[in-house]
Amino acid sequence: MGAGGKDASQIQSEVKEYYGETLATTSDLKTNACCTMHAPPKAIRDILAKVPSEVIAKYYGCGSPLPQGIEGLHVLDLGCGSGRDCYVASKLVGPTGRVTGVDMTPKQLEVARKHQDAYAATLGYANMSFIQGTIEDLSAIPSDSIDIIISNCVVNLSPDKPAVLREAYRVLRHGGEFYFSDVYGDRRLPKELTQHKILVGECIGGALYEQDFLRIARRVGFEDPRVLDSAPIDVKDPQLMELVGEAKFTSVTYRLFKLPGLLESLCEDYGQVAVYKGTVPGHRHAYQLDDHHRFETGRPMLVCGNSAAMVGDSWLGKHFFVTGDRSTHFGLFPCHFSPSADTPTPGGCASCC
Ligand SMILES: C[S@@+](CC[C@H](N)C(=O)[O-])C[C@H]1O[C@@H](n2cnc3c(N)ncnc32)[C@H](O)[C@@H]1O
Repeated sequence: MGAGGKDASQIQSEVKEYYGETLATTSDLKTNACCTMHAPPKAIRDILAKVPSEVIAKYYGCGSPLPQGIEGLHVLDLGCGSGRDCYVASKLVGPTGRVTGVDMTPKQLEVARKHQDAYAATLGYANMSFIQGTIEDLSAIPSDSIDIIISNCVVNLSPDKPAVLREAYRVLRHGGEFYFSDVYGDRRLPKELTQHKILVGECIGGALYEQDFLRIARRVGFEDPRVLDSAPIDVKDPQLMELVGEAKFTSVTYRLFKLPGLLESLCEDYGQVAVYKGTVPGHRHAYQLDDHHRFETGRPMLVCGNSAAMVGDSWLGKHFFVTGDRSTHFGLFPCHFSPSADTPTPGGCASCC
């Protein structure tokens, strides 16, 4: 059985109906959970301007999980819907990269597929494909084959979130990343709300208590999840407001790296230094790894072992110089050394360094 007594297939068929029949466009939503709150960077806005309008009209994302500097990589979009983020990623990865979208709702995929040839003609290459299926079972995708998984406001809709995270971890290559936006709550909701058809469809009812999400992520191997960006969600509809009461919801973009054997549960100090090369398109002067690591181009920054692995041993490796290894351990990472290697500043860590 899934949440609140409904089984997984019942939840999935209600979600399918919500996205295939109930909603026609973004303006039908009753909360802003499925509406991106922060404007994407200019380079992404420029690409969006060329995405077909029907694809955009059926966009129900809550964030901007669109990393730059990903030329030549294979991107997988979990719950791609009408394909808006796949269309953007298709341009970002270029002719040598690939984009695969997975979604269970045929009507959403119909829109994604309808415009893909015309869009490919405008780009001058075709690198997108769409698969109908559920994100809890990615058996169509080989293990260790994907560089970056993106997902926009989908995991909350799954009746089996641990399965989604396990499958994401399986299909990622070593050094790959699950870079995704989703909705989280500040508490566990009563069962009746987790099976409320509209609340679930609006990406609120199924939202994980954020601490539970972190527990699941670590359990499947995504040690040290990093927050990139977050924004509060407004439940605008008076009836839904009454139902959720004091519970608060946030849209968060998380970065989960698959770096087996390299990420530790706490940030440890090995005296490593990372320097950003300024090479990610659109980020010439600085690169934001997460909400507490902004690397200025050319400026040496002391980093813990986990951060050194994230920028040095992942797909980001070509954009950073990392010096030092783990041969000497200096204890727990001194979080007061930030942001540059030679400027100690007061203050402590957030959850990690
Ligand atoms: C909120 S919409 C977001 C769509 C798309 N990511 C976007 O940004 O426009 C959620 C999408 O996830 C899909 N979905 C929900 N649960 C799913 C599951 N378990 N497996 C596959 N797709 C799922 C729905 O069909 C729907 O298209």
